[in-house]
Amino acid sequence: MALVTGAARGMGAATVRELCRRGYRVVAADLCAGDLGAGEARAGEGAADLPGVDYPLASREQLAALRDEHPDQVHTMVVDVRDRAALDAAAATAVERFGRLDAAVAAAAVIIGGRPLWETPVEHVHTLWDVDVLGVWNTAAASVPHMLRGPDPGGCRFVAVASAAGSRGLFNLAGYGVAKHAVIGLVRGLAADLTGTGVTAVAVSPGSTRTPMLTATAALYGLDDVESFAASQLTGRLIEPEEIAQTIAFCCSPAGGVLTGSVVSAEGGFRG
Ligand SMILES: NC(=O)c1ccc[n+]([C@@H]2O[C@H](COP(=O)([O-])OP(=O)(O)OC[C@H]3O[C@@H](n4cnc5c(N)ncnc54)[C@H](O)[C@@H]3O)[C@@H](O)[C@H]2O)c1
Repeated sequence: MALVTGAARGMGAATVRELCRRGYRVVAADLCAGDLGAGEARAGEGAADLPGVDYPLASREQLAALRDEHPDQVHTMVVDVRDRAALDAAAATAVERFGRLDAAVAAAAVIIGGRPLWETPVEHVHTLWDVDVLGVWNTAAASVPHMLRGPDPGGCRFVAVASAAGSRGLFNLAGYGVAKHAVIGLVRGLAADLTGTGVTAVAVSPGSTRTPMLTATAALYGLDDVESFAASQLTGRLIEPEEIAQTIAFCCSPAGGVLTGSVVSAEGGFRG
C-alpha cells in the first residue's frame, strides 16, 4: 500500500503505474491546480497562489485518467502538499481503505528560475520552500507514524524525489537548488530519526527527465524544446519517467531498505 504525491503526471504518475504493476494499491494525490477555481489555475497561467510558477500544473482530468487505468488499485485525492491536514487525511485514507501504509513517495514539486539569485523575488523562494521542501516534510510527517504503528515497520519506506540540483549549483536555479539540497538534508535527518525502527528514508535524484517540468525548465532557459538537455547526460539522451519510476519502486521494495539515509543518483550521468 503506497501514497504518492504529484501523482497526476510526470514521474509521480509513472511511479503509480509501476507500483500498480508490482501489486501495490496506491493513494494518488495531486494539487490538480487546474480545478482550484475561476481564474486561479488554468492551463498556461500557472497557479494563482504559487508566485513564480508560470507553467500549468496537472489537472483533475489527468488524475482521473490515472485512476481509470487501474480502477481497482488507485484511489485519487486532490491534495496540496503545503496543507498538512490534507496530507494527514490522505495517509489516513490509505490506512482506512487498505489497512496499512507501506510506502510514501513525495514527488510533488514546482520549478521556478530563469534569473540570478540577486534578481529572484523572495516570494518565489517562499513558493519553492513551501511546496518543494515543506511539502516533502508534510508527506513524511503524515505518513511515517502510520508506518511505525503498522504491522510491518521493517518493510516500510519513505522516498523523496530530490534532483541533480540537490547536490550542485545550476545556472539561474538557485532557489530550486536550495529547495532540493534541503530535501536531501530532510531525508538524512529523517533516516537518522528512524534509526532502529525498520522504517527507512531515501532520496532519489533524477537527471533531466522527459516530463512537463523539464519543458518548463527549457522555457526558463529560452529553449524551444527539451532535447538539448540530453547533451548534459553521459547517456546522451533524456531519462524517461518510467526509468525513474523503476528506481523509486526499487527503493520502496524490501531490498531498498539498505539505501536508508542515502541519495540514489538516477541522473544518467548528469554533468550540469
Ligand atoms: N523532470 C526533471 O528533469 C526533473 C529532474 C530532477 C528532479 N525532478 C523532480 O521530480 C519530481 C517530479 O517532477 P516531474 O518532472 O514529474 O514534474 P511535473 O511537473 O510533471 O509533476 C509534478 C507534479 O506535482 C504536482 N504538484 C505541484 N505542486 C503541488 C502541490 N502543492 N501539491 C500537490 N501536488 C503538486 C503537479 O500538479 C504535477 O502533477 C519533482 O520533485 C521534481 O522536482 C524533475
